Amino acid sequence: MTAATGRGTRIPLVLVAAIAENGVIGRAGGLPWRLKTDLKRFRALTVGHPVVMGRKTYLSFGKPLKNRTNIVVTRDPEFTAPGIVVAPSLEAAMEVAEGDALRRGAAAIVVGGGAGIYSKTIDKAARLEITRVHVRSEGDTMFPRIDPAQWRVAARQDYAAGPDDDAPFTTLTYERRRE
Ligand SMILES: NC(=O)c1ccc[n+]([C@@H]2O[C@H](COP(=O)([O-])OP(=O)(O)OC[C@H]3O[C@@H](n4cnc5c(N)ncnc54)[C@H](OP(=O)(O)O)[C@@H]3O)[C@@H](O)[C@H]2O)c1
Repeated sequence: MTAATGRGTRIPLVLVAAIAENGVIGRAGGLPWRLKTDLKRFRALTVGHPVVMGRKTYLSFGKPLKNRTNIVVTRDPEFTAPGIVVAPSLEAAMEVAEGDALRRGAAAIVVGGGAGIYSKTIDKAARLEITRVHVRSEGDTMFPRIDPAQWRVAARQDYAAGPDDDAPFTTLTYERRRE
């Protein structure tokens, strides 16, 4: 499926997230874990693509993600920062992202969170690139349920925790089941 919002777009949407066993993705404005290996995977999946994210996720990075078009959604008309594109709604963000992807020749629009942005886009996504972190984390931000009736695991790989990783994890590529 390629429709990004109500409007429809030709560029597939891909949600990229790291999720604890209990669904937690964030705590107090940051990640609940340190997983350097997964940050490298995030970089590999997102470089060269437009990345749509909420204002709080952008602030958690502290600076724009390099070599990606950072599209930050906020209702605050005053919000601005060098190196990002600000969008007043998710629909506006998707329009910007689609134009950017077409200009760059990017094969996908990446959705980088947080919780509300994932919830509003998961039904329109073509693919989910999930890192399942093998911890049960305390947290305040959750990923929406991944419905097995809608999604099938197309690829998975298990990783032991490296020296800069707090926990072992499994990467999972979900593709939407065809009718
Ligand atoms: N583990 C992961 O993979 C992962 C990924 C991403 C984020 N996170 C974590 O999740 C947390 C941040 O996520 P979050 O859910 O709290 O916040 P968020 O989605 O990043 O940002 C929320 C803000 O985005 C803006 N926004 C959201 N929907 C909007 C819409 N439809 N139209 C206009 N503006 C909209 C609003 O900004 P204004 O208030 O300015 O209007 C809202 O307050 C952090 O802890 C972060 O580390 C984890």
